[in-house]
Amino acid sequence: VPGAEKVSERKDNLKHIAIILDGNGRWAEKRGLSRSEGHKEGAHNLDRMLEYFLTLNIPYISLYAFSTENWKRPVAEISGIWKLLNHFFKVRLDHCVKNGIHIKVSGDLSKLPKLTQSAIRIASAKTGKSKARLTANFCINYGSRNEILHAAGEIVNERISLFKNGKLSDAVKPVNEEELSSHLYTSPLPDVDLMIRPGGESRISNFLLWQSAYAEIYVTPVLWPDFNEKELDKAIRWYKKRDRRFGGLSDTV
Ligand code: IPE
Ligand code: IPE
Ligand code: MG
Repeated sequence: VPGAEKVSERKDNLKHIAIILDGNGRWAEKRGLSRSEGHKEGAHNLDRMLEYFLTLNIPYISLYAFSTENWKRPVAEISGIWKLLNHFFKVRLDHCVKNGIHIKVSGDLSKLPKLTQSAIRIASAKTGKSKARLTANFCINYGSRNEILHAAGEIVNERISLFKNGKLSDAVKPVNEEELSSHLYTSPLPDVDLMIRPGGESRISNFLLWQSAYAEIYVTPVLWPDFNEKELDKAIRWYKKRDRRFGGLSDTV
């Protein structure tokens, strides 16, 4: 894998970009096409943008592809999305392996069609973990509240088994941020530095609430199928100008 040995650090410390892939429906409606055509174009853009991400030396990207609330949509639209994802994981797999893209998936996958589940399992196994130049974290049937509940449930179960094994002081120890983080679907990815929302809505829509506590949030009216290399450059330039204080004071004070 070319360049795999050294995922060198960027000077701007930009390690994790999260993108809400929004605006596919409006892109299609503007052209008199079906919403599913919009998702198809969105998937096509994702292919293109993954190529670009490989050149940027950013180790982690999270892509919001389907939320826990998106089940409210018509069945035909939803099954179109599974078809696109099945296709993506199958057709792009070799390319991802060759280029050092590790496919990770975050969300409750048990509700997905069996075909999609197996495509995801194969893709994440074959793209391995070691030597990835880029980890592409696909958030599918993902919702932050679901994720945090799931993490809390796992911690409770661990505490119960510690208790049953007579390890009482471990069983009652307080839960800290590190422990909760380690049970999130996105673990071991670091916190989000830059969250990008194409499509113009100023909301997070249940995406990475915990992980984005100090993310810079960039909203653009550009719809996801039109969000190209230039738009990403613009977002990164904007990010570089932010003064990230994390509750402290600016270095220049
Ligand atoms: C985002 O695009 C993709 C998914 C939610 C799967 P939308 O389908 O929400 O597009 P708009 O917001 O209607 O334009
Ligand atoms: C967020 O977009 C979810 C994804 C892009 C996968 P939505 O279109 O579902 O969000 P809302 O309904 O506008 O908040
Ligand atoms: Mg939308």
